[in-house]
Amino acid sequence: MKKIPVVMDCDPGSDDALAILMVHAAENIDLRAITTVAGNLNREITAQNALNIVEYFNIGVPVAKGSYPIMKKFEALDVSIMGEGGLGNAVLPKAKGEYSPYHSVELLHKEIQKSPGEIVILATGPLTNVALLLSVYLEDRELIKEIVIMGGAVYEGNHTPRTEFNIYTDAEAAKIVFQSGIPIKMIGTDVTYRTPVTKSDLECLLSNDKKVSKFIGDLMFYPGDDKRPFPEEGIFIWDGLAAAALICPECMEYKHVYVDVETRGELTYGETVADMNHYLKQVPNTHIAMECKKYMFLSLLQKTIEAIE
Ligand code: BDR
Ligand code: CA
Repeated sequence: MKKIPVVMDCDPGSDDALAILMVHAAENIDLRAITTVAGNLNREITAQNALNIVEYFNIGVPVAKGSYPIMKKFEALDVSIMGEGGLGNAVLPKAKGEYSPYHSVELLHKEIQKSPGEIVILATGPLTNVALLLSVYLEDRELIKEIVIMGGAVYEGNHTPRTEFNIYTDAEAAKIVFQSGIPIKMIGTDVTYRTPVTKSDLECLLSNDKKVSKFIGDLMFYPGDDKRPFPEEGIFIWDGLAAAALICPECMEYKHVYVDVETRGELTYGETVADMNHYLKQVPNTHIAMECKKYMFLSLLQKTIEAIE
């Protein structure tokens, strides 16, 4: 089987952490590097979390530190959502290994140059690194096969009424990426809101003694105390769905439309404006996931747990 070479650009973040494990475990993916970016937490913490995960699960890929938003003041996610460390209840040993000597943008560039036309970028954080890459190394625009993005919202935001967190965190970067001409899959709130994962789904997957199951449980059942119990309707595993779209394209249904990003709106900064009715007469630039076959997603999680120690 020819594997898809992937660089994952992320801001772990508990759901990024799960996405890293999914991509690492997938038989059809060749994970080449992890580049990190400021998003859920500052750039030091997201990088450290990625390095810790890579070492703890023997993932064996370089991890690079990345950027802060290009124009907007950095605003981390409220710590009540993923905890101080960003990984919910999980605490990993501090990695002994070193970061890549390259900045995330440089490492992305090197990987793209090594495999021209083949690399897929899975972006589960703000799009800052990717936008900088496309701005500094214009030639890479022709050499990236696809960008699978966790981000955006056609109908309902998760951070402001109209915006999803990753795009809101750096809308200027997102605009550069969506306007780049590179094929894009957008796994936004439209599909994540339709794919809640319940407590019993997770309990069923995690009822074993594996270290990976303990880790995923610690990520997902946060805080899980009396004040904020696990929501009855389930949780949304944002970045996990983006990983699923990459690993198993057939688990999603898409609409192919033109998307642009609002960078000037007073109330809509970071909105992904999707031309669902083709008013703008532009060539579609984005496949937006609208539905996910949940049983396929759960089965991918099951395979992830089986494949890892
Ligand atoms: C996205 O924002 C982050 O908080 C998550 O890690 C995910 O990438 C969801 O909107
Ligand atoms: Ca993320």
